Amino acid sequence: MNRVEILRKYIDEILLNMANHDERRCAYVHLYGVAQCCALIALKRGVNVELAVMAGMLHDIYSYAIMDTNEHAHKGAMLAREILLSLDITNEEETNIICDAIYSHSDKDIIHSNFTEVLIDADVMQHCLYNPMLEVIEHERDRYEKLKNEFGIS
Ligand SMILES: [Fe+2]
Repeated sequence: MNRVEILRKYIDEILLNMANHDERRCAYVHLYGVAQCCALIALKRGVNVELAVMAGMLHDIYSYAIMDTNEHAHKGAMLAREILLSLDITNEEETNIICDAIYSHSDKDIIHSNFTEVLIDADVMQHCLYNPMLEVIEHERDRYEKLKNEFGIS
């Protein structure tokens, strides 16, 4: 198994234990969706695609594991670090890159490092493409327009 599959196996165990069927469905759709958007955007921007997919899979795991969205980015970065350390699939630099991105992913109004930007934009892309017939929420509108532009859709 490669690192992405090892991580997914671990995350699937957490998601499978979610008691609420609707929330479990949301968790799968969102985490796998963001991971795929991370891959697309990372490939487009020449960012490390493997680490980007791993960040996407982990970025909201705290919310789903603990069922608490309060401070989920900061607490999620700590949980992601614990998971990566226990799985022993990343070196220190890789762990920091992934966890820094998770820590900052709720700050959508600021421009971050190239890697963190991939995760934030992937989060927006998944929200907006899940049902393209719905109106885009205001704080994601600017990023979504820029993403469509970047991918030649306007
Ligand atoms: Fe998210």
